[in-house]
Amino acid sequence: MTDSCVLPSFSIDQAANLASRLFDLDGALQALNGERDLNFLVSTDRGKFVLKIANQQEQYAMLECQHQVFQTLAQADLWQQPVTSVESINGKPIESVTSAAGETHYCRVLPFCEGRLLSIVRPHTPELFHDLGKKLALIDRSLQDFNHKALQRPLLWRMTDALETLRRFKPMLATPGKRALVEHFETNFRHRVLPISNDLRQSAIHNDANDNNLLVSGASAWDQQITNIIDFGDMVYSWTVAEPAIAAAYAMLGKQHPLACAATIFKGYHAHLPLTEPEISVLFDLIGMRLCISVCICAYQRSLEPDNAYLSISEAPAWEMLQKLRGIPHDFAHFLFRDACGLEPVANCAAVKLWLSNHQNELASIVDPDLRNDPLLVLDISVSSSLFANPKNATDSAAMSKKIDRMMEDNGCLIAIGRYDEYRLVYGGDAFVDADGYPRSLHLGIDIFMPATSAVYAPLAGTVFSVANHAQAFDYGGTVILQHQVHQNGQPTLVFYTLYGHLSPDSLRSVSIGDVVNAGQRIGRLGTIDENGNWPPHLHFEIITDLLGETDTFVGVGSAACRNVWLSLCPDPNLILGIAREKLEMPGANADQIYRERQASINPALSLSYREPIHLLRGSGQYLFDASGRRYLDAVNNVPHVGHCHPAVVAAGNAQAALLSTNSRYLYSIMTRYSEKLLEKFPQKLSVCFFTNSGSEANDLALRLARHYTQRQNIVILDHAYHGNLTSLIEISPYKHDGKGGTGRPGHVHKASMPDTYRGEFRASPAEAATRYAKLVNDELQAAQGPGGAAAFMCETLLGCGGQVVLPEGYLQAVYTHTRAAGALCIADEVQVGFGRVGTHFWGFETHQVVPDIVTLGKPIGNGHPLAAVITTREIADAFNNGMEYFNTFGGNPVSCAIGNAVLDVIEDEQLQVNAHRVGDYLIEGFKSLQQKFEIIGDVRGLGLFLGIELVIDRESLAPAAAQASYISERMKQGGVLISTDGPLHNVLKIKPPLCFNRTDAENLLAVLESVLKEDFARINN
Ligand SMILES: Cc1ncc(COP(=O)(O)O)c(C=O)c1O
Repeated sequence: MTDSCVLPSFSIDQAANLASRLFDLDGALQALNGERDLNFLVSTDRGKFVLKIANQQEQYAMLECQHQVFQTLAQADLWQQPVTSVESINGKPIESVTSAAGETHYCRVLPFCEGRLLSIVRPHTPELFHDLGKKLALIDRSLQDFNHKALQRPLLWRMTDALETLRRFKPMLATPGKRALVEHFETNFRHRVLPISNDLRQSAIHNDANDNNLLVSGASAWDQQITNIIDFGDMVYSWTVAEPAIAAAYAMLGKQHPLACAATIFKGYHAHLPLTEPEISVLFDLIGMRLCISVCICAYQRSLEPDNAYLSISEAPAWEMLQKLRGIPHDFAHFLFRDACGLEPVANCAAVKLWLSNHQNELASIVDPDLRNDPLLVLDISVSSSLFANPKNATDSAAMSKKIDRMMEDNGCLIAIGRYDEYRLVYGGDAFVDADGYPRSLHLGIDIFMPATSAVYAPLAGTVFSVANHAQAFDYGGTVILQHQVHQNGQPTLVFYTLYGHLSPDSLRSVSIGDVVNAGQRIGRLGTIDENGNWPPHLHFEIITDLLGETDTFVGVGSAACRNVWLSLCPDPNLILGIAREKLEMPGANADQIYRERQASINPALSLSYREPIHLLRGSGQYLFDASGRRYLDAVNNVPHVGHCHPAVVAAGNAQAALLSTNSRYLYSIMTRYSEKLLEKFPQKLSVCFFTNSGSEANDLALRLARHYTQRQNIVILDHAYHGNLTSLIEISPYKHDGKGGTGRPGHVHKASMPDTYRGEFRASPAEAATRYAKLVNDELQAAQGPGGAAAFMCETLLGCGGQVVLPEGYLQAVYTHTRAAGALCIADEVQVGFGRVGTHFWGFETHQVVPDIVTLGKPIGNGHPLAAVITTREIADAFNNGMEYFNTFGGNPVSCAIGNAVLDVIEDEQLQVNAHRVGDYLIEGFKSLQQKFEIIGDVRGLGLFLGIELVIDRESLAPAAAQASYISERMKQGGVLISTDGPLHNVLKIKPPLCFNRTDAENLLAVLESVLKEDFARINN
């Protein structure tokens, strides 16, 4: 868009008349937005069209040029729905029309392009940006030989004339700060772009691939594509590379990781129209310049329309991005874009590596003894390290240091090594974030652990580039950087740096900037914990190919997202140290390898979660960590009840495993102590305990107990229930036997409807629902009285696989009364629900004021350890004791009992039941307020931290939104929060986190859920 233009004045009727008279298009007209054309949508039997009446300033030549461009692009077969001008009845693509005021305007008709604007589509996925890059490249490729005189017209938005646009409008910027910001990018443009402008190809480009000019198809994030680009009014002959840069400038706005968005567009572009190295080198500057042009023109427009508040709002994201871009080292962005285009990120990295490998024999040892020959211990500080946690202070570091010393001593080594290219969790806090907003966890140097005061020597000759003390906690402490120059014919041909961190600042008095040091010359000594940034004494040694403008430091840890760039900035220090390669090899496989091995050797009936399964290495509290150190908030795993790898539980298990692990044929007190403690949690009548290894075993035993006691066989259960994986339990689990691969309900099993008051048969009469659903159970109990007789009614006390259904008040009381009247036993499956999860009570059955005859426990009972239990009455237990021994090899072994005991202690000590109540209520409230905003949320239900959100296509028909539920779960995982889906219709979001889930976690979950709910996924097919 150039200077503001006055739109032509034609009424809808006049426009309809034009469409019919000139283009033979008869149909309904609707006004559309347009900045320089007056636009109307014309809907006819032949399809939809846009009638465009140009403003008076519009030159015929430009419209003619656009027409030719459409023809060229149509031949290139780029889009499913190509845009070509519709010829008038006179055979012309462009007609002249006269307004009522007697003004002449050009008028044309284009087909209406279906699709949604990128500006309103959410999310903007990497796949979509890649496709954007690809589509722009295909356009530019088709236009490589295209030219037209109109493309040379003066245009404020032409990148080649950027300085002229800034000269005119920069003075209109509101504040000196804003002018200074623009000048920063202007200077870069002068120094980096103009000098190589002859190396930048020129061609006809669209020149305005902003998110309001791009159309997107697809029902959700999974299948989005750019289907068309509209508004060719800003087309110019300009630098070809400006095309992807302009698209990136807009795509980055408001993004958390803007460089990644840009890099993805460039990757897509480069794959179809390769960019040259000079072109890649100006991408970052052109992005900045496009945003500067935009804010300057905006300032000009505001001067013409001072009351137009929208202008200020629309430029805010551009200012924000300019501010952000100024803080990003130019070279970092450049290297990232080189990487996206398949180049070595830092061009001289390969030469540095080659030179070092060719000169290995001339290098001196960096410490004494020599790492190349003397024994050394390689430490595992990776995500899966069992040795190190994130040190929070000097005391933690002292403990860490002692541990390392002990290990060195045990292994007879004087040196321990921390690896290069290792993902670690020891770095936390805001400082460990990269320029594009990604957390940094990738170690870029090699650590050499030795006693404080150990000497450090220069491994090769160089000049002291910097000497500094970075005294902040968890920084480097004393630091030296040496510069190394490689000369050829007396000229420096290669420059690189080596960094020595965690030195004693005092030991650096002898070196000064500019000093020449020789190989083997001492440059400092290792600092103590207090001197070196709070770390255990060690040297962080790093090679640096480009300092990114730093003068006295360089990061020692990079991000997983930009790994290629970081490893090119900091190549392997072992090129200098020369440690035997095999000593440094990392054990463990990557996700792809594990997946392949799993396909080969593990039954595929074991399913994996997520399109891209997560390779987990560590759990802690409510968090899980993947192989790159990425942290996920776990809002779905109810087995690690008191938190993943709770130290008290782990310690109890370890201690007992080290002492005695045997079976229940011997006497040991931990079993009785544990059973007593567990039974204290139950009403008095439930006084006998059996221990098993899984919830399934517990339920199977419960069936046996009931059948023995009643001497009957038949079991009544609820529809959609799941009670376990044993044959006996698949038989009573409609979730399995009525599902895929199931063989249906056997004769001895009787199934009643589950009391779902949201969508079940009695939802219209909630007051009577409990009684009417209970009567259905009674009907089945009566039917079960046939051959075999009714032995038991079994149900969960909150229906998990049924879809997190809360039983209606009074239901369980009525059902238990019917069951007992039928002479059958009441079995409560608390495998998922128990141990304080429901918040108000310890057990789910307590929320219904009933006492079952048999209760089964599992999952949370051992916090991940295979432990389960059956609790029953003395009478029922005695009936079972009929002479046949009940032996369970592992059930009730001392280690399991010690673990179960510790779990009960932690629940109590950390008041996790109260926490479940409090945080659960907060979540329910949050979900309900999301329900007000998002129609798709049909029902919110649950107790404590056992929660469900049922999704529906519409609230009247209750049509289930299953595909949408799975989309949300998948996108939340991408957002770092793990939930899952469940329910007979697969449309219930399931939330049942470890009970240490706190208020901040709940806020995080709600925020991620809300942002996903705002995305476009309603139209995914179910
Ligand atoms: C309600 C219920 N009962 C029993 C079981 C079986 O437990 P396990 O998998 O430990 O055998 C499960 C497992 O998902 C369950 O959800």
